[in-house]
Amino acid sequence: MNLTDKSVLVTGGAGFIGSHFVDRLIREEPSRVTVVDNFFLGSMRNLQDALEVRPDIEVIRLDAADLAAMQDVVTTHDVEVVFDFAVVPLPTSLDYPSWTVTTNVGIVTTFCEIARREMIERLVHISSSEAYGSARYSPMDEDHPHDAITPYAASKSAGDHIIHSYVETFGIDATVLRPFNNVGPRQNLGSYAGIIPIVVRKVLSGEPIEIYGDGEQTRDIIFAPHTADAVVKVYDEPRAHRQVLNLASGVETSMNDLVRRLLLLLDAPDHPIVHTDPRPGDVRRHIADPRKLQDLVGITIEPVSDQSLKETVEYYRALLS
Ligand SMILES: NC(=O)c1ccc[n+]([C@@H]2O[C@H](COP(=O)([O-])OP(=O)(O)OC[C@H]3O[C@@H](n4cnc5c(N)ncnc54)[C@H](O)[C@@H]3O)[C@@H](O)[C@H]2O)c1
Repeated sequence: MNLTDKSVLVTGGAGFIGSHFVDRLIREEPSRVTVVDNFFLGSMRNLQDALEVRPDIEVIRLDAADLAAMQDVVTTHDVEVVFDFAVVPLPTSLDYPSWTVTTNVGIVTTFCEIARREMIERLVHISSSEAYGSARYSPMDEDHPHDAITPYAASKSAGDHIIHSYVETFGIDATVLRPFNNVGPRQNLGSYAGIIPIVVRKVLSGEPIEIYGDGEQTRDIIFAPHTADAVVKVYDEPRAHRQVLNLASGVETSMNDLVRRLLLLLDAPDHPIVHTDPRPGDVRRHIADPRKLQDLVGITIEPVSDQSLKETVEYYRALLS
């Protein structure tokens, strides 16, 4: 299996990880690339590099949870493969829980239906390690119980169950990937910004950095372009069909450690840090067992390096200065 000469639809392709995936996808020379994004958080700027290489990428502003609209896109663009990155993110789910759950579940169900109706060959759905909740055991393999804490996590977990049910009942060809924490350029800078843009902004403005709780909560942090590469490799591996796979390094980093590394890269090692109340629903330990990815697909994903963090910090520094 490979993506050369395929007509590929990427939902959420103007977002953070989705746009890195589009950059990686076009190296496979698909015949056609269509991006569906409603631009809730995505931006055309994220697709600038890809559009320079492939000006024929079609970007359509639509709701990926709209079944009729997605059927129309799939039919008119002869879509064979869907990579589903579209999501309403975790912080939004704390303000708008019902809408987040309805939308995220709606997106997954839409593409399960399209697969059931045999309108596409294959669905690769991007889930999240958040579905596991706080680790009951570490590292967390794909069989770790789902103990979703936030409405976002519950919606991701529900999506995985819906896909499982369509695979079992209707035999659709769907793969579920559960990335752990991703960092890199192109994360949204607005009110739902990720940790790195927040740290860069605070350093530039001279304000203290707020860390939720004691900062000893840990994450398995990987670089989004590496995630994108892994998604392509999983697609290429025949044994990955109808599988669920963690995308992670297996290495644990605390928030305190990450912020310390970022401050060094920003030449601000003594920048003030304050610890605030823990964020509701913040999981304590989040570390993957990546062995299934290694065994099945033969790849490993490195924990984010200082070089990748530097690239990320420079990206935000240039945007925010
Ligand atoms: N960022 C992470 O660390 C991380 C970790 C694990 C899993 N994931 C998963 O990776 C995927 C991508 O996440 P991301 O971090 O790039 O998020 P993101 O918010 O940057 O990208 C999501 C994109 O989906 C779009 N979108 C939202 N609702 C939509 C809708 N109804 N129809 C069409 N487009 C819609 C947004 O505009 C945005 O461009 C998600 O499935 C997420 O659950 C992300």
